[in-house]
Amino acid sequence: MNDAIVRRPRSIATQKIAAFTGEGAYHGSTKPRPPVESAPLPPIALVEEMRPTTLEAYAAAGTRSIGEFVATFPNRYEVKATLPVPTQDEIAEDGVTFCWCPIDTAIAEAGPLSRRVLLEMQNHLQRKKRFVYIDSKIQWFEPGDTPVDSRHWHVDGSIAVRDERVGALGHRLLHDMRARLQGSAPPPTYLAYQSSTHCATQFATAKVSLPLPDLIPDFDDFDRRVRALAPPCESQPAASIVAFDGLSLHRAVAAQAAGFRLWIRCSESDHEVRLNPSLIDCYGTVFRPKGS
Ligand SMILES: [Fe+2]
Repeated sequence: MNDAIVRRPRSIATQKIAAFTGEGAYHGSTKPRPPVESAPLPPIALVEEMRPTTLEAYAAAGTRSIGEFVATFPNRYEVKATLPVPTQDEIAEDGVTFCWCPIDTAIAEAGPLSRRVLLEMQNHLQRKKRFVYIDSKIQWFEPGDTPVDSRHWHVDGSIAVRDERVGALGHRLLHDMRARLQGSAPPPTYLAYQSSTHCATQFATAKVSLPLPDLIPDFDDFDRRVRALAPPCESQPAASIVAFDGLSLHRAVAAQAAGFRLWIRCSESDHEVRLNPSLIDCYGTVFRPKGS
């Protein structure tokens, strides 16, 4: 069995739903993770792209308070292609979604709609990184639902660390933002597709500079700082493929109407991903405001 491939019928009745908390289940949850029972695997190699250089320097110097720096996000967002908008039936019947699946396997296993998107994405790959992974979701939204448990401005592929150096600073998880912004290795790069107008990711479209802590436990304060600047942004057009990178500010928004949506993201990264069963289990859940 390949955990990276999720093959099942999609319907309104079987859509997994959870209460929206804003906690951010996908982008670096601070909740303790359940223990995973499996044979020990060799550790994943630490690549330059994911090296927490700020945290390393703090640990080496015994620094116990987190400083700030001026972060500049270039926001390299670009529409690369626009495909025909699929019907609701085409989305619901596509049948197969992926969780950190190598692109060649995804193309071989995809339903007809996803395969067309993936073949177009192939034309826009940069091919400068070791791995090309595909994530996708087919989700049914009611108005107000969000595709992830957060509407915060954030970046994908942050350098998130959970270890004793983080504990020494009084946290369980820290994102090394300074390393991402100022590190020597280029960030991961992404292509993203979403099928619909009724729930479109927002991307910042101009350079944004702001003071930020070197290391952040979550994107709560980060989101407040970005919202205060109100950067110009664009909602991803229906059925478009957009390019962005690990320095591109974006946020999920609530669905404006009911309907199915196919979302596909292609990640190019030097960092090897091993699937966590708790991630697969929650993948594709939609988050509904309490009381609705
Ligand atoms: Fe994201």
